[in-house]
Amino acid sequence: MTHIKGCIFDLDGVIVDTAKYHYLAWKRLASELGFNFTEKQNEKLKGVSRMRSLDILLEVGNKNFDDDTKLKLADKKNKWYVEYISKMDTSEILPGVKDFLMLLKKSNIKISLGSASKNSMLILENLKLKDCFDSIIDGNKVSKAKPDPEVFLLGAKELNLSPEECVVFEDAEAGVQAAKAANMKVIGIGSSSILHEADKVIKGFENQTLELIQF
Ligand code: BG6
Ligand code: MG
Repeated sequence: MTHIKGCIFDLDGVIVDTAKYHYLAWKRLASELGFNFTEKQNEKLKGVSRMRSLDILLEVGNKNFDDDTKLKLADKKNKWYVEYISKMDTSEILPGVKDFLMLLKKSNIKISLGSASKNSMLILENLKLKDCFDSIIDGNKVSKAKPDPEVFLLGAKELNLSPEECVVFEDAEAGVQAAKAANMKVIGIGSSSILHEADKVIKGFENQTLELIQF
């Protein structure tokens, strides 16, 4: 039996549903560039870095730009995204998340964030969750995007734990792969058909107990 001493949480899609705001901002950019972007196409952007997301969007619209223009487009999308998430409050924390974090704290299990987002701090502040985390690894601290394990390995290191002592919570396929590559247990949040590589898959955190992190 593995004794889990640390939990590493992805942010978008695990703690809060920010995918809808990412979608609104990317859709707005697509529309400005003269093409439509559907919610189904947006699925491909989950867990993916900002610049890679832009590349996928531009592939959909069949558009090509030089690197400088691409940076400006990503910047524009981010300004709109930040406008949306600035209005977020604690009511947007996904059901059961706060209780589960409190249960971990009470049980002396360490907690880290492991997110690709460079906006993680703003979101955690608006959700008033920053103080729940013993370590925060976000898109500003890593150079390699998921499925590279860097973000989770850094999390374990900051918690002073070995990868084998940690479990990752992830909603994206690339994130599940990153956790596996880090040699960690991984619990998928969402559908088992998409997250089939995870050790367990749950719909959400409501009514979850410490049994969840026993393997
Ligand atoms: C991930 C999201 O958490 O962060 C992606 O799932 C997003 O959709 C990525 O592109 C980067 O986020 P940001 O906030 O730095 O643009
Ligand atoms: Mg996610």
